[in-house]
Amino acid sequence: MKTDKIRSLFLQFFKEKNHIIVKSGSLIPKNDNTLLFTNAGMNQFKEIYLGYKKNHTSSYTSSQYCIRTGGKHNDFNKVGYEPYHHTLFEMLGNFSFGEYFKETSIVYAWEFLTHKNWLNMSKKKIWITYYYNDIETKNIWLNKIKIKPNHLITIYDKNNIEYHSNNFWKMGNSGPCGPCTEIFYDTRKKNNTIKNHDELKKYCVEIWNLVFMQFNQTKSNKLIELPIPSVDTGMGLERISAVLQNVSSSYETDNFIKLIQFIKKNIKIKSYNYISLRIIADHIRTATCLISEKVIPGNEGRSYVLRRIIRRVLSHGYFIGLHKPFFYKLSEFIINSMKQMDLDFNISSNINFIKKTLLSEEQQFYRILKIGMHKLKKEIIVNQNKKLCEKKIFHLYETFGLPIEITQDICKEKKISINFQKLNQIIESNKKKQKKKNIKKIQNNSCLIYVTKKSIFDGYYEYVKKSKITQIIYKNQSVLCLSEKCIGTLVLDITPFYGESSGQIGDSGTITNEKGKFIVHDTQKNGNFIAHQGYLEKGILHVGKNVVAKIDVNKRKKIQSNHTALHLLHAALIKKFGLNVIQKGSYINNEYFRFDFICNNNITEKDIQKLEIIINKKIQKNIKINAIITSFSRAKKYKAVYLSSKKYKNTVRMICINNFSIELCSGTHHKSTGKIGCFKIIKNKNIGNSIKRITAITGINVILYIQKKTQKEKKIKKLLNNNSNDTYKSIKNLVKKIHCIEKEKKDLTNQNILQISKNLMSKAYIINNISIIVSYISHLKYTMLTNISDIIKQKKESVIMILINKNTSITRFLISVTNNIIQYINAVDIMNIMLSLLSGTGGGNKNIVKGKLNNKNITPTEIKKIKKKIIKHVYKNNVYK
Ligand code: ALA
Repeated sequence: MKTDKIRSLFLQFFKEKNHIIVKSGSLIPKNDNTLLFTNAGMNQFKEIYLGYKKNHTSSYTSSQYCIRTGGKHNDFNKVGYEPYHHTLFEMLGNFSFGEYFKETSIVYAWEFLTHKNWLNMSKKKIWITYYYNDIETKNIWLNKIKIKPNHLITIYDKNNIEYHSNNFWKMGNSGPCGPCTEIFYDTRKKNNTIKNHDELKKYCVEIWNLVFMQFNQTKSNKLIELPIPSVDTGMGLERISAVLQNVSSSYETDNFIKLIQFIKKNIKIKSYNYISLRIIADHIRTATCLISEKVIPGNEGRSYVLRRIIRRVLSHGYFIGLHKPFFYKLSEFIINSMKQMDLDFNISSNINFIKKTLLSEEQQFYRILKIGMHKLKKEIIVNQNKKLCEKKIFHLYETFGLPIEITQDICKEKKISINFQKLNQIIESNKKKQKKKNIKKIQNNSCLIYVTKKSIFDGYYEYVKKSKITQIIYKNQSVLCLSEKCIGTLVLDITPFYGESSGQIGDSGTITNEKGKFIVHDTQKNGNFIAHQGYLEKGILHVGKNVVAKIDVNKRKKIQSNHTALHLLHAALIKKFGLNVIQKGSYINNEYFRFDFICNNNITEKDIQKLEIIINKKIQKNIKINAIITSFSRAKKYKAVYLSSKKYKNTVRMICINNFSIELCSGTHHKSTGKIGCFKIIKNKNIGNSIKRITAITGINVILYIQKKTQKEKKIKKLLNNNSNDTYKSIKNLVKKIHCIEKEKKDLTNQNILQISKNLMSKAYIINNISIIVSYISHLKYTMLTNISDIIKQKKESVIMILINKNTSITRFLISVTNNIIQYINAVDIMNIMLSLLSGTGGGNKNIVKGKLNNKNITPTEIKKIKKKIIKHVYKNNVYK
C-alpha cells in the first residue's frame, strides 16, 4: 500500500467516525515559546487541552508534519543510523476533547489496524504496552479487544521517578501530558513471542501511540488535572508505510525511494555510502520545510538547529566526494512532492527563497571548510602525523567552524588517535562556561529583578503625569527613601516614561516634587515593571510620596519620528520586495534607527533612492496614524505585520498608517506622519545570510546630516583648489593623475633596480664562473632586495650574493645562492660565515635566507671582510662549476 494511500485511508476512517479533518499546522508553533518546533499532531490543539478554549466538543484528525530535533523529543543523532527515525516526519492522529476517551480510542485504533476494510494487519503480530498504574487501559485491551494477555506488556517508571516513563507522554518540559498505550508490530517473518520490554525494542517497531491527556505539567514540575480528559494519538506515517510495504526501514518506502533516486541522479558520484544518502534524504526534507517557514541558518535557537542540519549533510557530502554546493538543488524535489498537500505553510511560493538560502549557507560552509581544512592539515604536518591534541580539535571547531566529525574522519585516515573522553570533557566544560556567561549577562542587565511593584504606562500621548513613588531601589535593595546625590531606581504607580522595549530605547527626563529633583537617565521595562534609573540631584524622595514625572519631550519626539519611519520603511520594503521581507530586529533611538530583515533581493542604490522617495511622500501626505487595541485574531484578519517569534497576548496594539502600514507594536508613535519631517537612509549593508540592515535618520537629524556632508564637500573643494563646480569630475581627474604618477614611479623603481643589479654584477668577484656579490644597499625598501636577487639570478648562472639593507632603523639581509651550487655551498653556510663576523639572526632554506643584523651601521671594511671570507671558503671547498 502506497504512503499517500495510507494517509488518505486514515483521514477517511476518522472522518467516517465524525472527526473534522484539519490541515497540518505550521512547523513553528504559534504563540508558544515552550517549543522550538511543532513536535506532535496535538500541538495545534494545546489551548483546547488546557481548557483555555471552552466548549470544544468536536473531534479532529490530521496528518501533521513534525520536527524532532532540538527540544525534548530529539532524534537528530539517530537519523541515518537507525531505520525508523527522522528529523521531519508525518504524524497521523486523532484528537478528542470530551467526546470519547480511552475505550473508544482503543477500539478505533484496533479497527483501523486490523479490520479487513482498512489496514487488515495480522493480530498475531501486534503487541501492546500500557502504563503500570493505568489499569483501566489494561482492562480495555483484555476485556473489550480481547487481546491475548501475553501480548500486553506493562511499562514502569524509569529509575522509579514518578511519571518518567516511555508510557507517560509529555509534549515538552511543560504542557499537556498523560499515560499512554503504545502499539507495536513484530517485523520478523515468523510469528514469535515477545517476552519482555527488551525483546519488544529489539524485534518490534512502534507504530501508534494513544495518549490519554489527563494533566498539565507546569514549569515548576507540578501535575495539575486537566478540565476534560482528552485523547491525542500519533502514528508515524513513514513507519506504518514501512510495515505495510514489508521493508526494513522507512528509507525503503515508496516516497523515500523516489527521493533517494532523485538525489543519486543529481549528485553523480562514484560510490554511495548508504548512511550518508539517508542523512541527505532526511535532512533535505527538514531544511526545505524549515526555510519555507522563514527559518534561516544562524547561531541561535531554530536557526542554529537548521544550520546544524545543513552542515551535517555537507560534512557527509564531503566524505562521499561532494566538494561543491549540491544540497540546494535537491530542495526542488521536496517542494514538488509537497505542493499538492493541504498545509498551513506555503512551500511552493518560496522556491527561490529556499534555494538561495541553502546555496548561500553551502557557499559559506565551503569557505569555512577550506580554511579549517588548511589549518588542520598544517597541524597534522607539524605533529608529523603522530597525535593531535583534543584542545586543538576543539579550537578548530570553535574558531574555524570545522565540524568535529570531519576532523575525526581525517584523523582516522591519517591514523592519528583521538582521546574521545577528553574531547567530550572539553566540549561539555565549554558548554557549561557558555551557559554561565549567559546567566551572568541576564543578571547584569537586571536591576529589575528587585522590582516588585507594577507600574502603569500612560505616556503614548502624555508627557507629564502626577504619580506616586511605589518603590525605591538603592544599591540593589528596596529602601524607603533616597538621599541627595545618590544614584538609584524609582518605580511609580503611573508613568509617562516609556521603558525600553520593542527595539525602542527608554525615555529620559525628570521626577520632581517641591524640594527634590531626580534626573532619569534611562527607563527599563521588564514585564509590568517600569524602572526609572537615575540620580537625585537635590532633595530627598520617599516611598508613598507624590511626584511629577516629566519626560524629555524633545528626545521622545525624535525617537517617535524614527519609530514611525521604521514602520513606513518596513511597509515600503514589503511593497517593493513582497512578503519575503521579514523583520529580524530593530533598534530605535533619538539619533537614528536600524532595521534588520531577511530579504533575498539585492538592495541596490536605486532601490534605496526609490524607498526614500516613497517614504518622504507618505510623510508629506501627513497621514493620520491610528493606534487600535484589538484581538490578536482580528489583527491577523487585517493582515497586520507581526513578529512570528514573539508571543502576543490576546489583546494587541495595532499601529495603522492608512492601509499602507499595519503593524503590531507597543512603541510610541506620532499622531500623523507629517511630524516626521523628512527621512534619509544613511547605510545599507548585508550582515550575513540574506539578512540586510538599513540605518536611517529623520527630521532635524537629516538636516544636520546634509549640512555635515555639504561642509565636507566644501572642504574637499577647497583642498582641490580649483573652481570647477563638478567636484566628482575633479576628484576623478586627480585619481587618474595619481595612477599615472604611481605607474611612472614603478617604472622608475624598476629601472633603478635594473641599474643597481647591473652595477652589482659588474663589481662581482668571479671565481670559477661563480659571481660573489656582497653589497650594502641603503636607499631601497627591503622588499626590493628580492627583486634585485631575482634579476641577477636570471642573468648569471652561478651566484652567491649577500645583500644588506638599512632602510628604516633595522638592518636586514638577504642571502641567495643559485641552485646549481647549493650542493657545495648553500645560503645557510653563507649566513653562518657572515654571522661569525657580525651578530644577528636569520633563517630560510638552502637557496634563500633572510634575517636581521644587530649592528646599526655596516662599514665598507666589514663588507670587505665578509667578501674575503666567502671567497676563501669557496676556494677551500673547491667549489668548481
Ligand atoms: N503526541 C503523541 C506522540 O507524539 C501521540 O507520541
